[in-house]
Amino acid sequence: MSFTSSVVVLLFFKACSCQPQCVKETPDDKEFLINVNQHITVESGNCITISYELTFPENKVTVPYKKIWFDEDSQKNVNVKIVNNVESEAKDTFRTTGLPQGEYKYHLRLEWGCNQTYIFPKSVRITVSAFSHKPIVHVPVMTEGRAVNLRCLAHPVCSGRAKIRWKQTKADGQTKNLKDFFLNDFFTRNGDILRFSPTTDDHNTNITCVAEYIYGVVETTVNITVKFQPKIVSDTNCMVKGKLLVCVCASRGNPLPPVTWPLASFTDFSVSSSSNMQTVNSTITMPAANYHNTTIKCISSNELGQAEIEIPLQNYTQNLMVNRSWDWREKFYAAHPWLTAVSFSLNLLLLSLTIWTYKWHKRTQKKPCEEVNTYASLQKSEVEQEYNVLSTKCR
Ligand SMILES: *[C@@H]1O[C@H](CO)[C@@H](O)[C@H](O)[C@H]1NC(C)=O
Ligand SMILES: *[C@@H]1O[C@H](CO)[C@@H](O)[C@H](O)[C@H]1NC(C)=O
Ligand SMILES: *[C@@H]1O[C@H](CO)[C@@H](O)[C@H](O)[C@H]1NC(C)=O
Ligand SMILES: *[C@@H]1O[C@H](CO)[C@@H](O)[C@H](O)[C@H]1NC(C)=O
Ligand SMILES: *[C@@H]1O[C@H](CO)[C@@H](O)[C@H](O)[C@H]1NC(C)=O
Repeated sequence: MSFTSSVVVLLFFKACSCQPQCVKETPDDKEFLINVNQHITVESGNCITISYELTFPENKVTVPYKKIWFDEDSQKNVNVKIVNNVESEAKDTFRTTGLPQGEYKYHLRLEWGCNQTYIFPKSVRITVSAFSHKPIVHVPVMTEGRAVNLRCLAHPVCSGRAKIRWKQTKADGQTKNLKDFFLNDFFTRNGDILRFSPTTDDHNTNITCVAEYIYGVVETTVNITVKFQPKIVSDTNCMVKGKLLVCVCASRGNPLPPVTWPLASFTDFSVSSSSNMQTVNSTITMPAANYHNTTIKCISSNELGQAEIEIPLQNYTQNLMVNRSWDWREKFYAAHPWLTAVSFSLNLLLLSLTIWTYKWHKRTQKKPCEEVNTYASLQKSEVEQEYNVLSTKCR
């Protein structure tokens, strides 16, 4: 017999002799005891720790044995520990990852020898409340056209990571995704970063960071403010109303851009102003007669800049034409300038004809007196006396 063969035979016999007798005993409940907190309340996402102390017959439950925590409903093992040393057996702690909201019942089972088991009748009830930690969103000051970083910090949990999503809701209720779900490796340290280039349209919209965990979905919404330079908007105009000239200057900006009217030469005017959302509406009223071919200028400014406009004369003239204080003929001529010219020429011709006819008629009747009279007219202002004399002569 070779050396190897003898070793194999030896091992075989040794194994046979050491195999314990597979006799299933019925464990005595009095010998088994667990000391544990039977009701644990915890918030979803938090780690769960169960500390316990066991008493059992060490002569029967021999090492190695297993301590198995299992869920009563699903019968699934949640924690399995193999004990090899007698010393470490009595006190123990079992830790598990966070659980979704709900009620759970855990039991402890011992396994040893030939499928020998004992389930402790005392169970641990775990009440898990909803996950409540909303992400923290940091939004810097935003100015139109300047890209910024928005940060979303998801609350750290016992295990796993949050999936972060960003969305935006506009005033009309429409929502669009800015950045979709992705696995965030560093959320516990830095959170997720959204690069954002604000426009004036983004002002007063809501940005939401959604954090999705296995424990639930939480979100935080922030209302964003975007600063922007003033811009004169299309409501701006000048109109003649009766004897008044009314000019409106409307300007949109954030912060609200006040409107001023640089009217150095005028004193007789009044200004009123209102604002709605980000628009300032300033109205200036003055007698239309004061409006001597000057342009009305309005200036609007805020901390980011200034906008100004000269409300053109052309528009003033146009608005003047459609004003109802003008009668129909003026409107008609105003609309057809060539007719004004023709009419004027005809009037002039008629007048010339009338004068000529009159002169011709007079000359034929009183020719000498007419000449004296002309002379008298020329001298009138200087020689009042002479005029009287000559006039008398004429009669
Ligand atoms: C022990 O249990 C396992 C499965 O539960 C089974 O396959 C095996 O036959 C059992 N052994 C004995 C000795 O009862
Ligand atoms: C933004 O959120 C606030 C509070 O959550 C809400 O009152 C407001 O209507 C929202 N605005 C928009 C544009 O969704
Ligand atoms: C500004 O005033 C004009 C004229 O009074 C008005 O038609 C317009 O709606 C106003 N705009 C705002 C934003 O208040
Ligand atoms: C108004 O002013 C402009 C330039 O200041 C000048 O060219 C134009 O002739 C003026 N019009 C009248 C009617 O005075
Ligand atoms: C002023 O007149 C010009 C030229 O006729 C026109 O293009 C412009 O739209 C008018 N502006 C307003 C505010 O009516």
